[in-house]
Amino acid sequence: MFVEINKIKKSYGEGESYVQVLKGLSTYVEKGQTCVILGPSGSGKSTFLNAIGGLDDIESGSINIDSLEITKLNSKELSLYRREYLGFIFQFYNLVPNLTVKENIQVCEYLTKEPLDLNELMDILGLTEHQNKFPSQLSGGQQQRCAIARALIKNPKLLLCDEPTGALDYKAAKEILILLEAINKKYGTTMLIVSHNTAIKDMVHRVIKIKDGQISEDYFNTSLIPASQLEW
Ligand SMILES: Nc1ncnc2c1ncn2[C@@H]1O[C@H](COP(=O)(O)OP(=O)(O)OP(=O)(O)O)[C@@H](O)[C@H]1O
Ligand SMILES: [Mg+2]
Repeated sequence: MFVEINKIKKSYGEGESYVQVLKGLSTYVEKGQTCVILGPSGSGKSTFLNAIGGLDDIESGSINIDSLEITKLNSKELSLYRREYLGFIFQFYNLVPNLTVKENIQVCEYLTKEPLDLNELMDILGLTEHQNKFPSQLSGGQQQRCAIARALIKNPKLLLCDEPTGALDYKAAKEILILLEAINKKYGTTMLIVSHNTAIKDMVHRVIKIKDGQISEDYFNTSLIPASQLEW
């Protein structure tokens, strides 16, 4: 899916606590592209991603996902949009603690019309041997892989990741990046990845930097470095 963002604005609070977080951002991400969103803490990255995911209202501007103007949808249409098209991955994995790995993924599988093959996906993500364990019995990297499986089981057209490696050590973070790269290649999933890890900029098609609620840099890479070769 392509993502077209046109002059979006968003603020929080009133009076003295008023802050404008998004100050009229515009950009366009093509179908099948991977895009990293970089920027200092508090610059508006998560707000931006949540707006695209329909998790947060914006004040003005528009967001089009393919032919759908999500800023015009009512809450029922929005949840349908999220269910049909979107995958979310967050820094903290949000797994259901009393369900096993497999059951956590199945919850999302059942909500989907044409899910991917569960066993194949668990295999790709290295989860087969852990499928009957509970989240508390897994390492951080394994939990994140389970969260990724849950987001991917519905074969989302758009994957939104907010600090997907933020809670992981170097090795696990690299593993996750290699996986995201493989998934984009295999399924052509459009991906927006918010991160503090600037090394990611070399493995993705597109780099967007946000500073103080505005896009301060926006460019395409002419050649990509495989995630396995990134160093940071
Ligand atoms: N619900 C809210 N109410 C009030 N202010 C908020 C709210 N959510 C975010 N903000 C403010 O909006 C600004 C941008 O927040 P946002 O979470 O988008 O930043 P970020 O770039 O994702 O930062 P980080 O890298 O630390 O995750 C911050 O100044 C934050 O304090
Ligand atoms: Mg954030």
